[in-house]
Amino acid sequence: MRNHDQAVVAQFDPRAQAYLTSAVHAAGPDLELARQLVQQAPSRASLLDVGCGAGHLGFALAPCFQRVVATDLSPSMLATVSAAAGRRQLPQIEVQQASAQALPFPDGHFDVVGTRYSAHHWHDVPTALREMQRVTRPGGTLLIIDLMGDESPLVDTHLQAIELLRDPSHVRDYSPSQWRSMLQRAGFELQQEAFWPTRLEFRSWIERMRTPPESAAVIRNLLAGAALEVREGLAVEPDGSFVPRTGLFWARAPAT
Ligand SMILES: C[S@@+](CC[C@H](N)C(=O)[O-])C[C@H]1O[C@@H](n2cnc3c(N)ncnc32)[C@H](O)[C@@H]1O
Repeated sequence: MRNHDQAVVAQFDPRAQAYLTSAVHAAGPDLELARQLVQQAPSRASLLDVGCGAGHLGFALAPCFQRVVATDLSPSMLATVSAAAGRRQLPQIEVQQASAQALPFPDGHFDVVGTRYSAHHWHDVPTALREMQRVTRPGGTLLIIDLMGDESPLVDTHLQAIELLRDPSHVRDYSPSQWRSMLQRAGFELQQEAFWPTRLEFRSWIERMRTPPESAAVIRNLLAGAALEVREGLAVEPDGSFVPRTGLFWARAPAT
């Protein structure tokens, strides 16, 4: 039986090109906000991007840093990042295979450590946050961007269910209150947070993960038959498109 990290690689390795061109991943208000926030970072020599996928966080922030290390479990995602960084003339971007739960870097190695739309696949976020804190230099900064779980248990159960039906490597979209508490327990001091709606167009959302048609049909049925609170909470549209929230957390690592 494979472990969860192997399931992640099996899921993402064949889909690197789809993530390079995905509109949800290639753009978004979070990238501009992240650019503004890193200008405030006390030092900007190096950035670590954890779960880089096709590399969009690194591409957006590379002009602000001398060195960007993009890490992911999926070799095919890393090859895609290397090729795209070459085409974009971003020589400061290098790639390295790594698990978020075991980062192969010395203590205090990076000024800023970030992750975008990846943490909901990690099987152990508290361990990953401890690792991210360890490799951040004292007083450095952490940037978390991910889809948010819902604070309403009813809406949240539906969100997690359709995410898992769509993609078996899904673990959990954590709610804002869960993120605040995990960040605090990992020793980070929250400086800023922001949230905004992210529309997931049903067809491209399903196609990107090559969800089997029978699972896609179950998702449609679940959404169509859901209680009003769920349909309103996720702004479900007639074709199954829906609108969860993305959240961004900007936090400072302990100074010593
Ligand atoms: C949706 S993609 C990331 C999108 C990308 N960061 C962006 O901004 O476009 C999620 C990525 O997280 C990676 N991933 C999932 N679990 C991981 C883990 N435990 N450690 C490192 N990478 C992981 C997957 O391989 C996948 O490439």
